[in-house]
Amino acid sequence: MKISVIGAGNVGATCADVLAHKDAASEIVLLDVKEGIAEGKALDIWHSAPIDRFNAKTIGVTNDYTATVNSNVVVITSGLPRKPGMSRDDLIEFNSKVVKEVVENILKYSPDTIIIVVSNPLDVMTYQAYITSNLPRTRVLGMAGVLDTGRYRAFIADELNISPKDIHAVLMGGHGDTMVPLPRFTTVTGVPITELLPKEKIDAVIKRTKYGGGELVRLMGTSAWYAPGSAAARMAEAITRNQKRVLPCSIKLEGEFGLKDVFVGVPVVLGKHGIEQIIKLKLNDSEMELLHKSASAVKEMMNVLDKLEKNR
Ligand code: 2OP
Repeated sequence: MKISVIGAGNVGATCADVLAHKDAASEIVLLDVKEGIAEGKALDIWHSAPIDRFNAKTIGVTNDYTATVNSNVVVITSGLPRKPGMSRDDLIEFNSKVVKEVVENILKYSPDTIIIVVSNPLDVMTYQAYITSNLPRTRVLGMAGVLDTGRYRAFIADELNISPKDIHAVLMGGHGDTMVPLPRFTTVTGVPITELLPKEKIDAVIKRTKYGGGELVRLMGTSAWYAPGSAAARMAEAITRNQKRVLPCSIKLEGEFGLKDVFVGVPVVLGKHGIEQIIKLKLNDSEMELLHKSASAVKEMMNVLDKLEKNR
């Protein structure tokens, strides 16, 4: 198995490092436009192989897409990260051009790959990858839900003083302020958190989760990378190891949840074919309303992208 990670910034390098440590593929290629940076970071990761005992051969290249040939999975992290005061949506014009170019290059050497998009604004960049690649929707997915549920579960673990390993959660919708954490489907090994935490605490956790990315931008002056890198690696590993993991991913909906032609996060089964099933959990009216509201916010941004595409 081979995984290529495009963009050797903080998120891409973390993703490659986590993938290597998991031995999620026999070959990991890190690519960046900046001379030497991917080579350096990949070599640094490779030096930890004897120490941490993994085999995944990690190499770096400067914009040489021939090295990505026959990748089973490509993770796209390229583009600008958020700076303080910016929303994810502010990045659309610049990052969509970058994602488009990256997808065109990837497909020259891996026409049947599975693409995981990490660049922001996430759902819209996944749409960009989908329209540029012309791949089936099962092979183009966005990383957001795994990160957002990671934050959500970590905050719940803190609140209850329970291991984050035992918190299971579903979160749907776009990767933005309208994301929809679902407390009814959030459990401590099967016990709904609605039975363990008062409503005000749950609401506070949801609010912190929604603005979790912004909290980190404010603290660090740039956007997060450890959890985003790990989240993308978790998805890539589910594919290369054919794990059939149930993970929330941004995908194109075609009527599921009453939504069509819009990219939002929903729980899916990830295996060697990419998205192998969509878990159609039954939402109540208020959950459905929140999901549709989130989808409308993404759709607006998708329309902005459509206009940009027309003028290219
Ligand atoms: C975040 O939420 C970078 O969008 C990413 O931190």
